[in-house]
Amino acid sequence: MTSRIIGTGSYLPETVVTNDDLSKIMDTSDEWISSRTGIRERRLVKEETTASMAAEAAKRALENAGVSADEIDLIIVGTITGDYVTPSTACEVQAAIGAEHAVAFDLNAACSGFMFALSSAHAYLQANLAKTALVIGVETLSKIMDWNDRSTCVLFGDGAGAAVVKRDEVGLSGLDIGSDGAKGMVLACPNRTNNNPLVQTDKTLRYTYMDGQEVYKFAVTTVPESIHRAVEQAGLEIPDIKYFALHQANIRIIQSVAKRLRVSVDKFPISLDHCGNISAASVPILLDEMNRKGMLERGDKIVMSGFGGGLTWGTAVLTW
Ligand code: ACO
Repeated sequence: MTSRIIGTGSYLPETVVTNDDLSKIMDTSDEWISSRTGIRERRLVKEETTASMAAEAAKRALENAGVSADEIDLIIVGTITGDYVTPSTACEVQAAIGAEHAVAFDLNAACSGFMFALSSAHAYLQANLAKTALVIGVETLSKIMDWNDRSTCVLFGDGAGAAVVKRDEVGLSGLDIGSDGAKGMVLACPNRTNNNPLVQTDKTLRYTYMDGQEVYKFAVTTVPESIHRAVEQAGLEIPDIKYFALHQANIRIIQSVAKRLRVSVDKFPISLDHCGNISAASVPILLDEMNRKGMLERGDKIVMSGFGGGLTWGTAVLTW
């Protein structure tokens, strides 16, 4: 017995911001952004919140799966940009969709958030602690970007993706999850500082910073190794895989991973051109787009792989 994804959903904010739009408010250009990253536009929230996007993606996934909110007994949300420290985004989703019987909690694994949430849901399902899980990746990254730092803010966007997961005979067959906390500071966003009566620290807001070249090196070495381990665990070989749904950080990372795996880049679907990098949301949004375009047929072998802050990575091999 394993765990199977039986439905997907996603939500992108209404407002489209193109590279040309950004070039009107900062010193950048469509040529710089698209040639280095593959990103042409991203969606940014205006009215939407992290919880509202997650709830909408969840509703669409439930509809796609033909499952009612009442049947959900576990909600795990991967996010680093919840609207509140407490309640969790997962508890807000529970209330918004009326999943009264669910245990709900958030998990922080940055861009690997959906993969960590999926593997956690798998463990709950296999331990018979839950029967039907909702796994969500959601981010409002625009609120943790320094919009005066053109080297980071142009890369990211906002949005949510969700999957309904159930126990089944076929589904997940390989999992490789890992962390390297020693390298955490190459991609970091500080939390609020302590300002108790004994400690007075800087109260200015602090934003995301990144050593882009170190992140690049980490991604192009770790991701192919992780994919090899997960595919081997599944008893498969790389040519058996129909699609590699990777975290959408940067087209150059994806091209390099494809080359290192000796696989045509055509097997790597892309959403970063119209979404940018949405951290924990990027893998489930991509999967939902593939599903709704009819790219996935029952029995297909798919790899999903997330990587990023922590540093963390997570790869799953599954049969659709
Ligand atoms: N527009 C125009 N110029 C810019 C911009 C911009 N938006 N941002 C930076 N520049 C300039 C810099 O100021 C610098 O100018 P200088 O040479 O005069 O000093 C020049 O461009 C080069 O800057 P670098 O930061 O060295 O740019 P680099 O070539 O490394 O490209 C990039 C940056 C695309 C982020 C690259 O490092 C990369 O691909 N990193 C991979 C990591 C990644 O994609 N992270 C995404 C998030 S992490 C994750 O999701 C896992």
